[in-house]
Amino acid sequence: MRERIGAVADTIEDQLGPISLPRQPRAAIVWPRAHLGKDFTRRCLVRAAQSVREGGAVWCAVRKSKGADTVADAMRTLIGPVDIVGRSKGYRLFRAECTRDRTKVWAEVLGQRYTITDEDLLPGVSLHSAPGVFSRRGLDAGTAALMRYTAGLQLDAPKHMVDLCAGIGPLAIWAAKRWTETKVTAVDSNLLAVSLARRNVEELGLSARVDVLASDGLPKSAAVDVELALVNPPTHADAESLTKLWTGLRKWLAPTARVIAVATRPGGVRDALVGIGAKVESTTVPGYTIVDGRWG
Ligand SMILES: C[S@@+](CC[C@H](N)C(=O)[O-])C[C@H]1O[C@@H](n2cnc3c(N)ncnc32)[C@H](O)[C@@H]1O
Repeated sequence: MRERIGAVADTIEDQLGPISLPRQPRAAIVWPRAHLGKDFTRRCLVRAAQSVREGGAVWCAVRKSKGADTVADAMRTLIGPVDIVGRSKGYRLFRAECTRDRTKVWAEVLGQRYTITDEDLLPGVSLHSAPGVFSRRGLDAGTAALMRYTAGLQLDAPKHMVDLCAGIGPLAIWAAKRWTETKVTAVDSNLLAVSLARRNVEELGLSARVDVLASDGLPKSAAVDVELALVNPPTHADAESLTKLWTGLRKWLAPTARVIAVATRPGGVRDALVGIGAKVESTTVPGYTIVDGRWG
């Protein structure tokens, strides 16, 4: 449910619209991602309930320690009576039968949106956000630290900058506003985030210079002209995906590139940058470490 079945949606309306399947199934399964927030779990439950045929059921597996009781309550409110149909290895398996129409409460859940502003770092900018994306209610403190650190370097405008793991695009937009000739490539694998980032870029009139790609890491490219990459990497990714992210980035970098990343536990990022040939310096700022990698 996090990433829509079928092709990549082009617009936010499409991305958040109903899931249309060739035949309505009798059952839908939801496995909530706790770190994306309760509001996103509620959205997934509603989408699941909408997708099944009348009299169908929504099944949901939740770790007891990750808020199983709260999810069961949400299923009761949003779908129908809930049975616990299984308990295993710390998980609860719930089943809720879609007994009645809850169109009104569904509309409320699906209509939930947020706006992110930060007059200090992104003056005059309002970013569209929604349940299911990183730091959905405000600019992430790590992202803000990365912006402040980079601003303090007084860098020359890069020809091409990459925002790897861009979310709804705050770093890409910050860079595009700061360096008004720079080409910016933003990439994220969360299709909802990509959809919101595209809308943000478009409404700020930056589409001519800022490309937003839906991709698992940077795609293969002939471009080797990226002079700067700003990265707030995912904290929930496994080591293999992280390695893939950094090696994919390396292929886009100009010979004298700089990659600046922020992390709470910087060891993995530092090792990854060294692994792709960077000379690395780390700077501690409250709550985070900035890892600054250079080539050339
Ligand atoms: C810590 S968030 C940073 C988001 C954004 N840069 C910000 O500062 O608000 C990490 C982002 O990485 C994205 N991500 C995780 N794995 C990815 C992958 N393999 N390829 C691209 N993006 C990925 C997530 O969807 C998430 O939006």
